[in-house]
Amino acid sequence: MDVDGKKYRTIWLADDGETVEIIDQTKFPYVFETVQMRTMAEAAHAIRVMQVRGAPLIGATAAYGVALAMREDPSDISLHAACSSLLETRPTAVNLRWALDLARKTLIQVAPEHRRDAAYKFANDVCNEDIAINMAIGMHGMELIAAISRTKREGEPVNILTHCNAGWLATVDWGTATAPIYMSHDGGIPVHVWVDETRPRNQGAFLTAWELGKHGVPHTVIVDNAGGHLMQHGEVDIVITGTDRTTATGDVCNKIGTYLKALAAKDNNVPFYVALPSPTIDFSLSDGVREIPIEERSGEEVSQMTGRTAAGAIETVDIVADGSEVGNPAFDVTPARLVTGLITERGVLEPNRQAIAAAFPERVKLSA
Ligand code: MRU
Repeated sequence: MDVDGKKYRTIWLADDGETVEIIDQTKFPYVFETVQMRTMAEAAHAIRVMQVRGAPLIGATAAYGVALAMREDPSDISLHAACSSLLETRPTAVNLRWALDLARKTLIQVAPEHRRDAAYKFANDVCNEDIAINMAIGMHGMELIAAISRTKREGEPVNILTHCNAGWLATVDWGTATAPIYMSHDGGIPVHVWVDETRPRNQGAFLTAWELGKHGVPHTVIVDNAGGHLMQHGEVDIVITGTDRTTATGDVCNKIGTYLKALAAKDNNVPFYVALPSPTIDFSLSDGVREIPIEERSGEEVSQMTGRTAAGAIETVDIVADGSEVGNPAFDVTPARLVTGLITERGVLEPNRQAIAAAFPERVKLSA
C-alpha cells in the first residue's frame, strides 16, 4: 500500500536479493522505520518481539527465515533446525506452522546445492500468494459492504467495526479485514470504520488507525468496550475482523476481545464476518475453545503503556497499582454459532465443516 507516496509491502528483499527487509511495527505509529534481517535468528526475533505480527505476515516472515537459514547452510539438518526453531516463536497464528510445514516438504525434495534459491523462491511465492488471496477476499467482502450501502441514503457511509489489526500491516499487502474496506473506499462506496483500540498492545489505535489514515479512509478510534453501546444505537452496520486460526468447523480465534464483540453483535442483529485466507484454517482442529493454544504474553503489556509526550518523547509509564497481579491472554475464540460468515478467497462461506470443506477440498485431503 501507499505510505506518503511510496508503495510498500510489509516484507521484501533488499537490492542484494538476499537480505530481507521489514517495517518495524513496534515503533508505530510515531516512527516509520525499516529493519534488515540477514539471519534466521533475526527473523525469529522479529516474530517473537512483534516487529512483524498478524497471522499472514508471521507465515511470510517464517518462510524468509527458512531462506536465510538455507543461505547460511542448505543441509537437511539446517532445514529441520530452522523450521523447528521458527515454529517456537509464537503459538497461536497457524499460518506459521502452515508456512513451515510447506517449506520443509518442498525444500527437502530439492538437492542442497539448489536449496538456497528454491527457499527464496518459496518465500517469494508465499508473499505473492498472500497478496492474491487478500485481493480476492477484498472483492468478496466488498459485495457485502455494497449490499449494505444500497440500503442507505445517498452518501451515507456503511459503518464497519474492526478489532486489532487485520490490515495490510498484518499481511504482505491489502490486509484481510481491511481489503474489503480499501476496495469499497477506492470504488466510491462511502465507508466509516470504528477502530477498537485493542488493548494491551493497541494494534487498533497504533496500526489500523495509522494505515486507514494513510489511505484516507474515514475512521474513529474507540475503546474496546464501546462496540456494544454503538451496536445498541444502530451505529454499526457490520463487524469484520481477522483471525489467527480458524478450525475446520468455523470456530474463530482472534485477538483478545473479539468474542465479546461477537456476543454483542449477536444480541443486536449486527452481522459478524471474519475475513481469512485459507492458510489460517487449521483443518486438524474441530473445537476452537478447547484445542487452540492461546498465547499468554508478558504482564508488562497490561501494566504499562507507551506513548508520545507533548514534548515529542516516546515514554513508557506504569498504569496499574503497585503489587497487583496482571494476566495477559492474547487471543480468544469466537464459536462458529456467533459468526455470520467467513470471507475467504473462494467466497463467503457459512462457518461450518461442510461449507469449509467444500470450498477447500484439497486442504481437507492433505490434513487427512
Ligand atoms: O498479536 P497479533 O498482533 O499478531 O494479532 C493479530 C490479530 O489478532 C489479527 O487480528 C489477526 O492476526 C488477523 S491478521 C490478518
